[in-house]
Amino acid sequence: MKPRSFMRSIGSYVPEKILTNADLEKMVNTTDEWIRTRTGVRERHICNPDEYTSIIATRAAQLALQRAELTGKDLDMIICATISPDQPLPSTGCLIQANLGATQGVAFDMAAACSGFLYGITIADQFIKSGMYKNVLVIGVEVLSRWVDYTDRATCVLFGDGAGAAIVSATDSDSGIYSSDIRSDGTMAEFLFIPGGGTRYPASHQTIDERQHFVKMRGNELFKVAVRSMEEVSRRVLRDSGMTVSDIDLFIPHQANQRISDAVRERLMVPFDKVYCNIDRIGNTSSASIPIALDELYTHGRLKRGMNVLLTSFGAGVTWGATLLKW
Ligand code: UT7
Repeated sequence: MKPRSFMRSIGSYVPEKILTNADLEKMVNTTDEWIRTRTGVRERHICNPDEYTSIIATRAAQLALQRAELTGKDLDMIICATISPDQPLPSTGCLIQANLGATQGVAFDMAAACSGFLYGITIADQFIKSGMYKNVLVIGVEVLSRWVDYTDRATCVLFGDGAGAAIVSATDSDSGIYSSDIRSDGTMAEFLFIPGGGTRYPASHQTIDERQHFVKMRGNELFKVAVRSMEEVSRRVLRDSGMTVSDIDLFIPHQANQRISDAVRERLMVPFDKVYCNIDRIGNTSSASIPIALDELYTHGRLKRGMNVLLTSFGAGVTWGATLLKW
């Protein structure tokens, strides 16, 4: 029988330090009311200077490993989905691999922005189904506070830091990933991007003076594509799995903006009590948002074996995707 993959465990870590809307009111020309009504965010967690991507990712991964009753030595592959790595070289995946003592496997980074976790799950699923690997660690981690311009009110109110990690393992049981679909369209690359610091505009006094190392976003345009794309790809994985929305027990959209999640929920006609949102406390943590949400649900006893869970995401690239699984 062909092996199937399932999400064996989940873990997450968010830094302790909290940045509230009241704090932001003192930093940029904004109000708590604007932020809450336009984005749904009340507060977000921010790393201290001594916390960085590989550190918070390792904490999330250790929790997932402990819950799976595995050690680093059991991992065949580590996929680190991030667009805020520790440094350009080497990959943050390799640094996490060393922290976990998982050196017999392979580790790498994957840049798919907010869709990174679902890209990682989809890749893990393929390696497991092919019979090549048994245990894959998929991490979504971002320290976007280092990439965000705290003088730009249109972006700084949205993002937060955090990490989430899942162990995807082979199984013979009927739990598992039913269907996963990932997409991208690079013609919209400039809807959300960081122009400086790469090979096109290497770091220089000029790029720094022009604040080119920070996130630039065309939020309005992104908003419309995000809603449409997450709706379409969610319908596709439901169709591919032979299911309808009524078969779903939990729906977790990427936490980009509460209004985006509401619009996708409404279009798919998912009942309110099946949708999970934590953007009010966590903000938009990009690739970490879905695994953090899964971990919160697990920790509070709301995520139970046998439940059908629909995950969907959208982000810079632009990239989007959906995964339908039986937990
Ligand atoms: O993670 C995946 C990728 N990210 C997304 O998908 C994000 C998608 N976009 C969004 O979430 C929303 O577009 C934003 C939250 C970024 C912006 O909300 P919006 O309702 O689309 O606002 P807007 O950009 O149309 O701006 C409306 C007004 C503008 O003022 P004027 O020109 O009407 O006078 C902005 O300057 O709101 C102003 N504004 C603010 N006002 C107070 C923008 N940011 C702020 C702010 N506080 N923080």
